[in-house]
Amino acid sequence: MFTSTKTILEKAQRGRYAVGHFNINNMEIAQGVVSAAVKLKSPVILATSEGALQYAGMEYLKCLAETAASQVKIPLAFHLDHGRNLEVIDRAIRNGYSSVMFDGSHLEFEENVRLTQKVVGKAERRGISVEAELGTIGGAEDTVSERNIIYTNPTKAKEFVERTGCDFLAVAIGTSHGAYKFKGRAYLRQDILQEIRRKVKIPLVLHGASGVSPTIVKEAERYGANLPGVYGVSNSQLRLAIKNGINKINTDTDLRLAFDAGIRKVLKTKPADFDPRHILGLARESIQKIVEERIKLFGSVKKG
Ligand code: G3H
Ligand code: 13P
Ligand code: ZN
Repeated sequence: MFTSTKTILEKAQRGRYAVGHFNINNMEIAQGVVSAAVKLKSPVILATSEGALQYAGMEYLKCLAETAASQVKIPLAFHLDHGRNLEVIDRAIRNGYSSVMFDGSHLEFEENVRLTQKVVGKAERRGISVEAELGTIGGAEDTVSERNIIYTNPTKAKEFVERTGCDFLAVAIGTSHGAYKFKGRAYLRQDILQEIRRKVKIPLVLHGASGVSPTIVKEAERYGANLPGVYGVSNSQLRLAIKNGINKINTDTDLRLAFDAGIRKVLKTKPADFDPRHILGLARESIQKIVEERIKLFGSVKKG
């Protein structure tokens, strides 16, 4: 059984720590994430983007998450990330996700309010919680892309949450999706976050939060990757963001980099080995390692 995302995040809010949301696309990523959470007795949120659903199918990914939940004692939630297509959101609600995100960040304020209210109405009837977004997170991945960052306006955030009844709010304070987050100096508007925290009472979410570990990037490049200019959110900025009220931290890019480095290493160092279990096995271990690091950073060890 999945645990309610709302229960997990409200506990995190009371305890002033953050819970990791990790994007999954296949079995090895899901297993790596769950093994790390189990080892550290941490709650965890497994998330699927619309791109992941196009790649693997909702039923397959839900089976992976359900199987994990049936085998572990830690609180485990299953979440739809960046839902923009209302039909996909409806399917997720009917399919028993623990929570869905409606991402109306690209819409005008009133339209974002209207559609978020609609999703909240449908989800509420089934006891599913809803994450919404105000402001824009920059960067690009597969189906999620935004050129500019528009910081969340704290006063508008208060009005948005009151009018929509959403359960968690994703805020834009300078992070971007992907591996190229900052061109010059890394900079997050912690002052805006503090102001939002003062005005908004529900758990806050940070997207685009990957650290883009130089160690992992170096490892991937050693075995053939070419990743010039990648840059992530520093650990100190993340710690500060948690202190300032972030309770859910989304990580995808760090998993992609760890997976990539693992695969490249096997292919490069064992050119005669073509067993997918060996190739993907190391990638799965790399996922577990980076997720353990993230969970420790988020402060959710033994909170499960
Ligand atoms: O926030 C975006 C996630 O990393 C999902 O990316 O659309 O490429 O699956 P994706
Ligand atoms: P990263 O690209 O920084 O990992 O962010 C992922 C994310 O926000 C998923 O919703
Ligand atoms: Zn995101």
